[in-house]
Amino acid sequence: MMRVAFFSTQTYDRSFFDKLNAAHGHELVWFETHLNQKTAALAAGAEAVCVFVNDTLDPATLEVLSTLGVRFVALRCAGFNNVDLPTAKNLDMKVVRVPEYSPFAVAEHAVALILALNRRIPRAYNRVRDGNFKLDGLMGFDLHGKTVGVVGTGKIGAIFARIMLGFGCRVLAVDPYPDLVLQHELESKGSGYASIEEVFAQSDILSLHCPLNQHTSHLIDADTFRMTKSTLMLVNTSRGALVDTTALIQALKQGRIGSVALDVYEEEAELFFADHSATLIQDDEFMRLLTFPNVLITAHQAFFTEEAMSSIAAITLQNLADLQRGEGCANEVQA
Ligand code: NAI
Repeated sequence: MMRVAFFSTQTYDRSFFDKLNAAHGHELVWFETHLNQKTAALAAGAEAVCVFVNDTLDPATLEVLSTLGVRFVALRCAGFNNVDLPTAKNLDMKVVRVPEYSPFAVAEHAVALILALNRRIPRAYNRVRDGNFKLDGLMGFDLHGKTVGVVGTGKIGAIFARIMLGFGCRVLAVDPYPDLVLQHELESKGSGYASIEEVFAQSDILSLHCPLNQHTSHLIDADTFRMTKSTLMLVNTSRGALVDTTALIQALKQGRIGSVALDVYEEEAELFFADHSATLIQDDEFMRLLTFPNVLITAHQAFFTEEAMSSIAAITLQNLADLQRGEGCANEVQA
């Protein structure tokens, strides 16, 4: 049993972790605030911190945690771009994550966004509630026969590609490490892997499923919109900084892109997972994005299914148990 300080927690985190913790008996301490240098002191007395996508584990924060006696960092997410791994290593702190919890959750949310955006479901819903049954402005297109570009065919991208094949789409995938089983399936259906240039040029829908790193930051920028169709539907459920927001807004204003669905946003850390409805949002680019009728945004909810939440809690508690036993953990992130 150990004391674990949870940061950036919501009521749903507590309910899933409390339920499964009965078998482990850890002492779980809950904080709503993000973890950063200023809030790190809250972890006093804990052996481990449990954090999420928008917590900041920079060198200064890690130093404070280490001084307090924290030895373990358990990420309850897959990405670890918010942890300074070399510093953690120097401080002899072990970092674990949940590499896979439900790739279906994210792939299915990408499809939900495509269908909702294409068939104007949010607009139709509001119109019908308002007693307006006209169809002007609600026209979509058949997905059947369209070309769908998939950037990154790992766990999520491969599932997404197969769902789109099921709609009768042609799938053009790009990945430095192609999935050979998927490749075979794609090729048997007139689809396949292609270069990024071909994917940009031929896609009617382009969905991003690659990690954020120095090579993929602003993968979609002003140059991309010169190569893509002016009717392109862009879908990002991966990480916000894959897309250059300023260039995206320009492309939308100039009609160089058809529509955009986002579950992630470059500057989301200040906004998402909190209620700002009674405050003035200061992020002008985010507010500009909201004004376009052809933009649909959800607030980093692609992972949010019952199956994924159960899996995140179970794997995180197991990771902590493995760390405590000191026999190594398969989900440890190495610097
Ligand atoms: P994964 O690691 O299984 O697959 C990523 C794939 O991208 C790999 O096959 C890799 O070779 C490929 N890749 C790397 N660089 C590339 C490049 N430059 N161009 C094309 N492909 C490239 O990861 P997984 O689990 O499929 O996750 C994908 C993304 O989804 C992650 O970046 C993660 O941040 C994001 N995600 C978003 C969630 C949400 O709630 N919105 C939840 C979970 C993950």
